[in-house]
Amino acid sequence: MDIYLDNAATSHPKPPCVVEAVVRALTQINANPGRSGHKRAIAGAEALMECRQVLARMLAAPDPMAISFAFNCTDALNLAIKGCLQPGDHVVSTRLEHNAVLRPLMTLQEMGLVEVTLADPAPDGFVTPEALRAALKKRTRLCVVGHASNVTGAIQPVAAIGGMLWEAGVPYLIDGAQALGIQPVDVGALRCAMYAFPGHKGLLGPQGTGGLYLDPGFALGTLREGGTGSSSESMLQPQERPERYESGTMNLHGIAGLLAGAQYVLENELRLRAQERTRTAQLMEGLLGVPGITLYGDPDPRNRVGVVSFNVGDEPSGAVADALDRLGFAVRGGLHCAPGIHSWLGTLERGAVRASPGHATTAQEIDLFVEAVRRIAREGSDRIP
Ligand code: ALA
Repeated sequence: MDIYLDNAATSHPKPPCVVEAVVRALTQINANPGRSGHKRAIAGAEALMECRQVLARMLAAPDPMAISFAFNCTDALNLAIKGCLQPGDHVVSTRLEHNAVLRPLMTLQEMGLVEVTLADPAPDGFVTPEALRAALKKRTRLCVVGHASNVTGAIQPVAAIGGMLWEAGVPYLIDGAQALGIQPVDVGALRCAMYAFPGHKGLLGPQGTGGLYLDPGFALGTLREGGTGSSSESMLQPQERPERYESGTMNLHGIAGLLAGAQYVLENELRLRAQERTRTAQLMEGLLGVPGITLYGDPDPRNRVGVVSFNVGDEPSGAVADALDRLGFAVRGGLHCAPGIHSWLGTLERGAVRASPGHATTAQEIDLFVEAVRRIAREGSDRIP
């Protein structure tokens, strides 16, 4: 089997407790939560509630009902962005964002509904509150910032940005795709109205899960309407949260796995964080010792999550990623669905190779990976059988 270094795309392996929880939900519960009143449906509803409680603890959110489930982080971001903006609004974001933020924003702009301003990062790759403040207008109704870059791993100063936006009275949405489960998050301290997250990355849950923290005082329109199992006498979408944002049958099996993953992360938080930092530092140090390597982002591993992008000589990143695959290493080449940051880095044409260690990556695996990159740098990717 390969050595998996693509945890920024999805975490692997999932802890055994996650697999067991999914199987249990499929075999022992397997009913529609919040709909029927029989014991198994109630057990399903309880699993959903328990997951909301664990996620609320992780986000330091006072109310579990502030967590709405989504299919993934992109789904949660779409709800947050499209549910919040009105025709004529102005939005501020940054060039560093993933297409999960950029495309919903640009779609609304293309339709002539909103105006978008993308702020540039400082030369060190970090977005400053000042740069965002300078982009604000009287009509600005939202500011969207990624907590950590999926290309350079840069951990943005999200608390300082939150303080600035709070004073300016602009609602703040954080894209936590690469951060929740990996970085400590306190939505009150960050002063964000919304925090979107996936379930299958740092929380170690299954794909098809994610969610949105929504400040209880912040109103949002819906993207999807339908059955919620509540207020069924009305043809109108209920106002009550979280079901207002959760129409249709929930992904109970995925959410049961997410509950187990999030509990595992909470129980092992400090160990996992320290391990990720150690492996990232080892990876960066090892790669810097390979002749012809260009490493992107801040050189200090303390300022980034476990996401390390690089290039080898003049090679296209896809060729290097393919050669690494042949040698038994799973990484991601190309643009990582983040064209703005690649254009800022000057890598829009050839992309970059991204290695992202995870909770199960060992020191020996990192050493083997660095040796494989060294071999590619020495021999060329097309010489690797
Ligand atoms: N957004 C994920 C990544 O960066 C899929 O790879």
